[in-house]
Formats: sequence, structure tokens, C-alpha cells
Amino acid sequence: MKVTTAKYQCFRNLGEVSLEFSPGVNVLWGLNAQGKSNILEGLYYFARGRSFRGAKDRDLIMFEQPFASAEIGFLRDGSVKETTLSVTLPKNGRKKLARSGAPLSGPAEMLGSFRAVLFCPAHLTIVSGGPSERRSFLDIAISQTSREYIFFLARYKKYLAERGALLKRYASGGKVDAEEWETYAWQLSGAAEKIYSERKRYCDLLDGDVAEYFEKMTNGRERPAFKYVSNFETTCDGEEEDTAARSEGLYRKLTENIDREAAAGSTLWGPHKDDVKITINDRDARLFASQGQERSIALCMKLAEGEISRRLTGEYPVFLLDDVFSELDENRRRFIMNELEGRQIIITSCEPSAVPGSEDTLNNEVSFFEVSNGAVKSSGAAE
Ligand SMILES: Nc1ncnc2c1ncn2[C@@H]1O[C@H](COP(=O)(O)OP(=O)(O)OP(=O)(O)O)[C@@H](O)[C@H]1O
Ligand SMILES: [Mg+2]
Repeated sequence: MKVTTAKYQCFRNLGEVSLEFSPGVNVLWGLNAQGKSNILEGLYYFARGRSFRGAKDRDLIMFEQPFASAEIGFLRDGSVKETTLSVTLPKNGRKKLARSGAPLSGPAEMLGSFRAVLFCPAHLTIVSGGPSERRSFLDIAISQTSREYIFFLARYKKYLAERGALLKRYASGGKVDAEEWETYAWQLSGAAEKIYSERKRYCDLLDGDVAEYFEKMTNGRERPAFKYVSNFETTCDGEEEDTAARSEGLYRKLTENIDREAAAGSTLWGPHKDDVKITINDRDARLFASQGQERSIALCMKLAEGEISRRLTGEYPVFLLDDVFSELDENRRRFIMNELEGRQIIITSCEPSAVPGSEDTLNNEVSFFEVSNGAVKSSGAAE
């Protein structure tokens, strides 16, 4: 999959910008605070359905303007017919999403059409960060390849929010029928079963792929491993991996501990509390990995995300690298560029020369774009 064009209007500081990407390496370069990350934010919006920087839709509208819009054109491998995705975000009113001109009901309907893997400095600490960062990695990666997952995850979140409100009502003396608790336990554990099994399957794929990349990247003998861990044990001995047993266990937890959960003010068990356990040679990476190892694992997770996406969908996603090279040594930079050879990459960097291979513009499909104060010009080769 290759993104061919992107257009922005009043999207953050991008007043009126139109870009044509090369199918190979694209380098967006310029000084700080010029709009480089805003361009990637706009592209990734179509892969994730919202900003990767945690911003709300309305934050994407240029200050003092009534709306923002963005549009991308992309080609699936082997296809000559371009697909477009567009979003309009009015300051007042509902956002409008469309695919090739046809309106979409919301992000859930859009996810999976345009697929991208994003590398950014904040992701380099995914190993030592909190469990929510690792769950989020899984949710974003799986959502791009499974429509069912998007559906169950959205349902799960909806029921969780409703049950949270119910717990608070109950804690403040409101009456709740036993049947109502049972219905929520039933709905949550049903959606949880799908979430467990998809996340576990994904972790098994990561486990193999990350170990392979890691070995190549570090020339080492150490093996990182990934295991999906649920936040409670099932009572069925020997069936620890059985997702159906796990969701039955969840049903029981949610019907038998209501007073405890009401006191805590939230649902205490379920996939929203799960984690991915990452080890290096069987030792907990959170406690024992060096900073360099942690970064290497994080980068290998991203490379693996791209590889798994290709295996599940038949084509590589687009790789978006936001300012990661400034954080990495030359060996890791070169390793990433080698591993991504032949795929489409869009990189932001203050220095165009920070991108390995960028000096070799004759036989390489490298395009340069200079970003300055929210405007972009194709800038030919790096100096
Ligand atoms: N809604 C908005 N309206 C107008 N400008 C905005 C809006 N949101 C952010 N900006 C501005 O956009 C500018 C560029 O931001 P961006 O993150 O893209 O910079 P960058 O080129 O990636 O810089 P760096 O190299 O420091 O990462 C910033 O000056 C920021 O204040
Ligand atoms: Mg930036």
C-alpha cells in the first residue's frame, strides 16, 4: 500500500498544503515547530481514526478557523485505482468522513482501509511504560487488520463505561437489580473473550517476529519474548490459555465482587486491566532491560507490526517515522532503513542528512520536502 497524495486545509498550522509522495523514501525536513509532525498526524489520522498525539479533533483545527480538513489518496498493491479518504472537522457540528466520496458513519467504518505503522519517540519506552501503553499498541495494530476486533472493543468500552456509572450509582445508595449486574457481566465477558483471543494471537505473532528482528539488530544471543497476561487466573486448572474459560472466570468475578468494585468505583477485572509481559532471556524486561535493549525491542515491535500486517492483509502498510532518527545511533538507523527497504517510508527530521541513504538520491526513490511555517515545498536532494 502506498500513499500518493495528501491535502490539508487549516489542519493545525497547515493552511493549504498539497503533497505528492514517492513510493519509496520521503523526507519531510525543516526547523522545529514548522509542521512536520502535523503532516504525519494527518496521515495517521486515517489509519487510527484520531490523532496519535492524544489531541481531540477540535485541537486539529487551525486557531481561529471554522474547520479543518484533510484528504489522502492511496493505492493498494496491484491496483491502479486510487482510493481517497477525507475528513472535515467543523468547529461546530459533526465531523464528516468519506471514502472515495461516499460518506462513512464513523472511524470504525474507516479503520483498516489505509494501514500505517507509526514510529515516534514516545513509543521507545513502551517496555518500561505502563500496561495501558502496551494494550494500546495491541489495540491499534489489531484494529487495522480485524473489523471484528474494532466492533468488540467498541462494545466492551461502551459496556464498561455504563457499568462504571452503575457502580457509582450503587455506591451512593442507588438500587440495582441482580439481573442488571448479570446482564453487564454477560455482555462484558462475551466481548472480552474476543478481545483476549485476538490479543493473545497477536502476542504469539509478535513473539516470533520480534525475536528474529532483535537477533539481527543486536547480533546477540538474547531472546525477547512476549506473553499476553490476563489480570486474573482462571479457576480451571491447566486451561490457562483457554479464552472461553477466561471469560467464564470474568463473568464470575463480575457477579461475585460487586461491593468491592463499588467501593473502588470501577470494574476491577477484564481486558482493560491486562498487560503484555515482555521478557529478555526469561527475565522481566521492565526490570532488567538496559535502555538500549528497551529501545531495540520497541523498534523491533514496530518492524514486526509491519510484517504481521503484511502477513494478514497481503501488503505492507506505510511506515511513518516521526523524528525517531535523532534519538538513535547510526547502527540502529541503518538497520531500520535496511529492513524497510522497498517499502514506503515518510520520515520527519530536522536535518535531511540524518536519514541514512538520503545522500544517495540518484538510484534511490528519495523525495525531500522542506517544511517551513506550515507550508511545504519539494526541495530536491539534501545538501
Ligand atoms: N490548532 C493549531 N492551529 C495552529 N497552529 C497549531 C495548531 N496546533 C499546533 N500548532 C502549531 O504547529 C506548529 C508545528 O507543529 P509540529 O508539531 O508539526 O512541528 P514540527 O515541525 O514537527 O517540529 P519539531 O521538529 O519540533 O517536532 C507548532 O508551532 C504548533 O504551535
Ligand atoms: Mg515534530
